[in-house]
Formats: sequence, C-alpha cells, structure tokens
Amino acid sequence: MADALPSHAPSNAHAELMARDAARVYGWRYQPAIQFERGEGIWLYDVDGKRYYDLTAGMMCNVLGHCHPELVEVMRAEAGKLWHENSWYSNPHLVRFAERIASTLPDGLEVVNFAVTGSEANEVAMRMALAVTGKHDILSVIRGLHGGSLAVESVTTIGGARRRHLGPLLAPANAPAIYAPFCYRCPINLEYPACDVACLTQSRELIDHVTSGDIAAVLAETMLVAGGMVVPPPEWLPRLKQLAEAEGALLVLDEAQLAPARTGKLWGFQHYDVTPDIVTFAKGMSAGLAICGAVTTREMAEQARGKAGLPWAGTYSGDPLPAAVADKQLEIVLRDRLDERAAAMGQVLRAALERLRDAHAVIGDVRGQGLYQMLDIVSDRETRTPDPAMAERIRLNAALGGVIVICVKNFLRICPPLTVTEAEIEAFTECLDRAVRRALDGHPKDVDFRASSSLAMGGVAAQ
Ligand SMILES: Cc1ncc(COP(=O)(O)O)c(C=O)c1O
Repeated sequence: MADALPSHAPSNAHAELMARDAARVYGWRYQPAIQFERGEGIWLYDVDGKRYYDLTAGMMCNVLGHCHPELVEVMRAEAGKLWHENSWYSNPHLVRFAERIASTLPDGLEVVNFAVTGSEANEVAMRMALAVTGKHDILSVIRGLHGGSLAVESVTTIGGARRRHLGPLLAPANAPAIYAPFCYRCPINLEYPACDVACLTQSRELIDHVTSGDIAAVLAETMLVAGGMVVPPPEWLPRLKQLAEAEGALLVLDEAQLAPARTGKLWGFQHYDVTPDIVTFAKGMSAGLAICGAVTTREMAEQARGKAGLPWAGTYSGDPLPAAVADKQLEIVLRDRLDERAAAMGQVLRAALERLRDAHAVIGDVRGQGLYQMLDIVSDRETRTPDPAMAERIRLNAALGGVIVICVKNFLRICPPLTVTEAEIEAFTECLDRAVRRALDGHPKDVDFRASSSLAMGGVAAQ
C-alpha cells in the first residue's frame, strides 16, 4: 500500500473561488483547479496557505524561481517610472537587454526584433525567412511545438486535437514537416547509433515529395519538448543545418523552452556545433513578463527590412518594465553561472529520476537535458506503449501531495527553477515516488480523468 497523502480538501473559500473561476473564466484547467496566491523560490502557496513545489517554474518562465528579491526590486523601481510606452520609441532597458542577449550568442547573431509571446517571436522569424529568401515553405520537424497563433499553429505537429476545426485558418500547403530524431520510439524503426540518423536521410527524400521546393526556413526546437522531450543525437542538428543550406533555406531554432541555461548551456544549440541563422527566445528569457523575440544577423535584418511587415512592432513589444526585469534576470543568470549550476543539478535530478524509473515499471524512459527532464509513462516497458491516463493519474496525485508538474499525454515534465538545491531535488523526488505509488494503487478513485487533463483536450493545451 502507498503511504497516505494529505487530501487536497480545499477550504470553502477556495472551493468557491474554483467555482467562480469555472463560471466566468474561459480557460483550460488541470484538476484540482488550485487557486494560487503567492510564490517564493521553488514554492507556490494556494489561497489556503498550502504549499507546493513548483516544478514548472510558472509556465517554464521563472528560471530564478518565484519573486526573486532582485527582480522584485527592479519591478518596484520601474513601476514608479515608466512601464509602457509607444513601441515606435525605445528605452534604455530594452537596449541593454538586446545587448546582453547578443553577448550570449555566437558572433553575428546580434540584432533582436522584440515580440510579446513565443508564438509571435516565431512568426517574426518566419517573416524574416520569407523576406530574406523570397521563398515560402516553412519546413518543421514532426513533434515540434511553435505556438498557438495561427501561422505557428500551422507548423506545430505535436498531434492531438489542437488543430481540429481550424480548417482553412491553417496553412497546410506551406507547412510540411520531417521526421523527428525520436530514438525511444524511432519513426522508422531503427536503432541509434547503427541507424546513422537515417530519419534525416529519409527526410531528405520526403522533402522532395512534400514541399514545393521553395523552402524559406527549416524551423526546429533544438530539443523537441512538448512533443516528447526529444533530445537529438549529436549528429542530427549539424546535419539539419547542412540540409537547410542545401535547400537554400535559413535554419531557425526555437529556444522558447530552453534559453537561458535550462539545459546546462545558455542556449540549447550550444550542445551541438551549430549556429542558426535566426534564434527565437520566450518563456525563460522573459522572466514571465511577456518579452520575447527573434535574433538574427545585421545582414539578414537589413535584407528583410521593409518586407513581410518587418521590423515587427506590436503594441507592447519592448516595453520598459518587462525589459528591465528580463534584463536583470539574464544578468543574474550570467553572474551566478546558472548554466553550470543547471548542468550540475541536472545530473542530480537525472540520477534521482532514474532511481524512480528503476523502481516503477510504468516509467519507461527518462529524457532531457540539464534541469529539464521528463518521465515517459508506459503501460508496457517492452512495447513502450504510452499510458497517458496513468501519467495524468500520477500528476494529479503529485499535485494533491504538494508537487506541481506538467502532464501532456504520457509525458510528465520536471522543470524546476535553476536555483533548485540538491535537498529540494531529493525531497520532491520522494513526493513523486509517493505519487506514483498512489497512482498505481488506483487513487484517486473518484476522478474522471477524461475531464482532468490535456487528455480531455487531446493536447490542445500543450505548452
Ligand atoms: C517551443 C515553443 N515555442 C513557442 C511557444 C509559444 O510560446 P507562447 O505561448 O509564448 O506563444 C511554446 C509554448 O509553449 C513552445 O513550447
């Protein structure tokens, strides 16, 4: 029998808020639909004062944890000065942030076009690719997620129901995709390394058949996170770059989930010997305040100027308050060498999760890089059959036991702040262990899992 977990048992006031949320806010919710009111470091506190490990860093944004004191200080100071301005002017925070971003990138990647969301940043990158090459196809990688606004939805291929009913709002003709280097469930049933990344060789043939031949960009997540935490083998990204070059296309890497430092390097692509033509940033670089963007070379930026609506400037892009906070966050990441910390703590996390895997057959695989890891939940280790219902059951038990993780399909993602300690890793892994055992014992008995998670939405809400 699994240990008893404290039941969630929300107070009456908490339950009433949940009901009011359901009545008036049109949003997708995990169950229980906890109402949070405070955060500090790795901790979240609900309105009853119950605390939870937040292994999602917000929406993968708060790399320093919640309410980092230095960021709070900047926010307080800037709130009294200027938080929004006409986006056809600039401000010193934005200039500094752009300079600091460029300082972390390989030579040449030095001009930043700011946006508000990761989706918008990727659409800016797509505009750039079209403007620079004069071509139209965006070739993406199956299992990639690039956002929910319609142009990037068209190049998002994580499956599920998220594209259902969108009909002509998507642009399928110009959005072909190639195989992912997903070794755990190889799309062409081979084994790495004997396969010599044949998924890419076969993709070359595919390209000939499924594209118009006019490929503007090859767009890829450096690590395909929502689609199953696919960490490409070392040869894949360099060869993808060669493929892009052979097609006369730009290589656009989407680092929304990875930068800064989450994987143990400031940018995920630094694990590979590759420099993209355009890199996009969002979530972690934004500190949670909606400042995202696309970075390219001066030459390409100038080639694109005046075409495809570039440079892009929406109502809120580059506002001073988010720029100040995001810049301070990046300054701290660099000052405190959080890339090295993520690499070291990532090993501790990985070892802890592998112990969990060894203890529970439902955990078929642990994948990830640095402080971004994922448990692949299966009904059968031999066949590697995905078990999304069990994954959701584990997530729910984890939440009831005070640990917030992301569950999309059969993938449970662990994404703590980069400031996480060894003791915290040990403690939340124990909680996860209890959650797995509770789930295996069939708890909770009274929850309709079809209405409880992304299962209900067929992955619509996947981030
Ligand atoms: C890799 C990747 N790119 C882009 C996006 C879209 O970001 P946003 O939700 O800020 O539009 C996401 C969102 O989860 C993502 O995971």
